[in-house]
Amino acid sequence: MRPSGMGGTGGGGGGGAGGALPLGDLRKAAAAAGKRLGTAVDGVALRDDPSYAALLAREFDYVTPENATKWGPLALGPGIYDWAPADAIVDAAAAHAQAVKGHALVWHQQTPSWVTDAMSADELGAALKAHIEATLAHFRGRMRAWDVVNEAVDTSTASGYRESLFWQKLGPRYIEDAFRWARAADPDVLLFYNDFGIERLGAKSDATYAMLRDLLANGTPIDGIGFQSHLSIHRYPADDDLRANFRRFAELGLRVNVSEVDARTLLMPATQDTRWQAQRIAFQQVVGACVLEPACEAITFWGFTDRYSWINADGDPDDPLPFDRSYMPKPATDGILDGLAGLLPKRGDNLPRNGDFAAGADDWAASGGVLAVEAADGRAGSAACVSGRTDTRHGLTQAALLEPLSAGGPLFFAAWARLRGAPSAPVIAELIVTESAAEPRLLNVASRVAADTGWIQLAGYVSLGFAATPTAIDLQISGPPAGVDLCVAGVELRPLSAR
Ligand code: G3I
Repeated sequence: MRPSGMGGTGGGGGGGAGGALPLGDLRKAAAAAGKRLGTAVDGVALRDDPSYAALLAREFDYVTPENATKWGPLALGPGIYDWAPADAIVDAAAAHAQAVKGHALVWHQQTPSWVTDAMSADELGAALKAHIEATLAHFRGRMRAWDVVNEAVDTSTASGYRESLFWQKLGPRYIEDAFRWARAADPDVLLFYNDFGIERLGAKSDATYAMLRDLLANGTPIDGIGFQSHLSIHRYPADDDLRANFRRFAELGLRVNVSEVDARTLLMPATQDTRWQAQRIAFQQVVGACVLEPACEAITFWGFTDRYSWINADGDPDDPLPFDRSYMPKPATDGILDGLAGLLPKRGDNLPRNGDFAAGADDWAASGGVLAVEAADGRAGSAACVSGRTDTRHGLTQAALLEPLSAGGPLFFAAWARLRGAPSAPVIAELIVTESAAEPRLLNVASRVAADTGWIQLAGYVSLGFAATPTAIDLQISGPPAGVDLCVAGVELRPLSAR
């Protein structure tokens, strides 16, 4: 991507809330793709940093106030609102023909200090209803959409819900009530449910799907779902999973948003250049997956410059966004452009030897138990089955992958798994990386709950890096408890490239 001309702070200034700016490469490519390309907006940076304001106006057509439209920042007291910081963001967006998504009417974080568990259920319900009504009324006609409920699902609790103050006082009904109150307050604005950790197929995504399916069946006015997509390049969902997941929510009639994208890089031990090239692939993939799915209408980054990422304030600074701290475009911006062109990362040759077991058990072994290759039950081709397993780490392994993997970088992994002897159990695929003078490091490349009723595909992207010279790399697929037989078919481990 061409440098945005914003190099350095203050460089290329102007373009604050009023100036008309030529559209940048990202915004033009998004328009050509028929998708909205958005970013969270830091109101203080917008107010105080002209370079931030100018790049925001040039490169994005959809904005989400990062904090300014949350309950706490808006409401100084019951019925007492300071709309000014949020209005500044909304007004700047209007000046640059950007649509706005409000975030978030109901969230367990950043609630006003006066919303406490000392409130009765009626008091809390009335306060929440009044907040939704006042906020929707204030912004009516200026917001395209709202994140109505944010992060209400929690598969670690007995209830399956995040047991927040809202859940404790009002029960899960608060979710339906919030959407109904919002719809009554504004019949035109799009209403979204938003959450994290639901991007790939899995337990939390399944629980969210079931919740939204039931709410919709009950007539709850929900228009869309936001997959936050706070990623880390060392391991993130594969586009196969993303797209299958987007499609099933779309089949409920929901619009899909990729709503809070950033990609941490520091969990990949590598040079900055290597990390940033891997980040490019991550952004190419998540943007491309949205572009290729008709129901996915918008991709919003959770900020656009590393200078202002929330992750910096979270205690472990990283470089998770498309532009660097001096507003210069990183390789990530080329990944976004490739994704907006509908180009997913290219998968290279399959690196494991005899990945389809067409040559029997050649190059494969059992890390415990007994390995047998047989005709796959219920699918074409062969499968490798490990029986007699007496430990969760007993499964299928292939050694001597150092040569094809010694360069590291982004990789695509997929394998099909099926159990015998248990209805369901986790299956985990790992690269076991041994680097000079260090203990072997386990890099989880994909994991999923498998079943005995049919084949489940594990899939994932990883970015393989090294802190020292690698001396051995093995692949292992294991996970179910002792006594459960594990069958595996169609093992793929492929290098990824932009084109
Ligand atoms: O505005 C006050 C300021 O007056 C004060 O001086 C300063 C120091 O205490 O705090 C400022 O508020 C901070 C606010 O960001 C604005 O900068 C809060 O402490 C801080 O907690 C808040 O963090 C936000 C975080 O949500 C809150 O949990 C991040 O900026 C924001 O990026 C993050 O966004 C969330 C989404 O809303 C939901 N999905 C997850 C995502 C990341 O956590």
